[in-house]
Parts: sequence; structure tokens; C-alpha cells
Amino acid sequence: MTALLSVKGVKTYYGNIVALKGVDVEVNEGEIVTLIGANGAGKSTLMMTICGAPRAREGSISFAGRDITGLPTHEIMRLKIAQSPEGRRIFGRMSVYENLQMGAAVAGNTHFQDDLERMFDLFPRLKERLHQRGGTLSGGEQQMLAIARALMTRPRLLLLDEPSLGLAPLVVKQIFDAIRDLNRSEGLTVFLVEQNAYHALRLAHRAYVLVNGLVTMSGTGKELLERPEVKAAYLEGGH
Ligand SMILES: Nc1ncnc2c1ncn2[C@@H]1O[C@H](COP(=O)(O)OP(=O)(O)OP(=O)(O)O)[C@@H](O)[C@H]1O
Ligand SMILES: [Mg+2]
Repeated sequence: MTALLSVKGVKTYYGNIVALKGVDVEVNEGEIVTLIGANGAGKSTLMMTICGAPRAREGSISFAGRDITGLPTHEIMRLKIAQSPEGRRIFGRMSVYENLQMGAAVAGNTHFQDDLERMFDLFPRLKERLHQRGGTLSGGEQQMLAIARALMTRPRLLLLDEPSLGLAPLVVKQIFDAIRDLNRSEGLTVFLVEQNAYHALRLAHRAYVLVNGLVTMSGTGKELLERPEVKAAYLEGGH
């Protein structure tokens, strides 16, 4: 079986500084794959490199059997990769409804009303806040909106960069439960970047550890949770 997403030997630079030093990662259809790593390890850089900005200077990235290494970002998005970036980046002056409309419009989604109902089932809070401006939502609500907006594009692959960042444990649980439900009920494929290692590894079918721009460990989420090196570095007092 070929992977849905395959990252091979990817090196990414910011000027002369190398942020990714030859990264190999695979995500199969229907999987939740988690990437954990400390601040500055290169997690967000990998997510962004998959989306074509910054671009990989070496190595290759393929999606659904197609080499996307050199494609412009908007063409990569058209292949149904959706990203919920770190820091959320919703449209602050638009309402929740308009934000969701934007997500759907980008993808030419013709199932808007049905998908809207699905998002309300997933995140009932968004229904209550439908006409509130995005910028005035709480942090957790903004995160829900960012994920819902990405889902409105009906992605084949959902990229999530630290969805738990700055959120209370209960909200983190809601968001992770929502991801698990979508994966189970619809087979949604997810590549998740997290510092919240305990929950992310429990959610993941497989996981990778990124240290200083290099993958140092991989295995099932359960395997990594039990590795002493992971416990010491990422789970210390963690949960
Ligand atoms: N635009 C940029 N210009 C220069 N250096 C950058 C830029 N963006 C990131 N870096 C550097 O690249 C390295 C990897 O950063 P990255 O944001 O990918 O880390 P991260 O694993 O996502 O960290 P965090 O957990 O803090 O979000 C860091 O050393 C960072 O300072
Ligand atoms: Mg980051």
C-alpha cells in the first residue's frame, strides 16, 4: 500500500538556517498520525512545508500518489489537504457563519447546509455563537472554528498544528474526542502536531518524535507512550 502522504528526506531552510534536516514521515489513508516535539523542533515547519511554504529545498513530498514538492500552495490545497494552523488564524471580523462559509467556498463545497449541521453536532458551541464575530470568540471556540472551517473543505487529509495550545483540559478533551469521532465515523485522515504528548499519543494510531529537525523515534501511539525516553522528555508531570 502506498501512503496517502509521504515525506522523504525533506530539508527546509530559513535563509541559511536548517530547520528540517532530512525528515521522513508517512500518513496512510484513515490514520491519525501524531508528531510530537519540543519548542523549535520544526513541527510547524514540517506542516507548512507540506503545504508548500516554505518549500522543501531537498527531498520530496507526495500526496495521493502525486509529487507535490514543487506545487504552489493553492494547488496543494486544491488536492484536498486542509490545514488548521498554529495560532488558529480565523477571520476575526467575520462571523462564525461567514468563516464556515469561507471554508466551504474555497473548496466549492455544494453540501454547505449538511456540513454545517455536522459541524454543529461536532461543536455545539459554534451553533450558539453563529453570528458572533470570530475575533471575539474565546480561545477554545476559535480553535473549534478553525478546525470546523478546515473540515468544511471536506479534506482528504486534515493537518492540525497544536489544536490544544492554550486550552483548558476539558476543551482539549472535546476537541480530541471530535477528531477521534470523525476518524472513526468517516475515516478522516489526520496529521496532528502536538506538544500535549499524552493526549496526542493516546489518540494516534502511529506517531513520530521530532528533535532538532530530525525524526528520532516512531511507532504506534501506545508504543511511544511506554518508551522511557518519551516519558522523560515529553510526559514529565505531563498529564
Ligand atoms: N520564519 C522563520 N524565519 C527564521 N527562522 C524560523 C522561522 N520560522 C521558524 N524558524 C525557526 O525554525 C525552527 C523550527 O521552528 P518551528 O516553528 O517549526 O518549531 P515548532 O516545533 O513548531 O515549535 P513550537 O512548538 O514552539 O511551535 C526554530 O528554531 C525557529 O526559530
Ligand atoms: Mg509550532
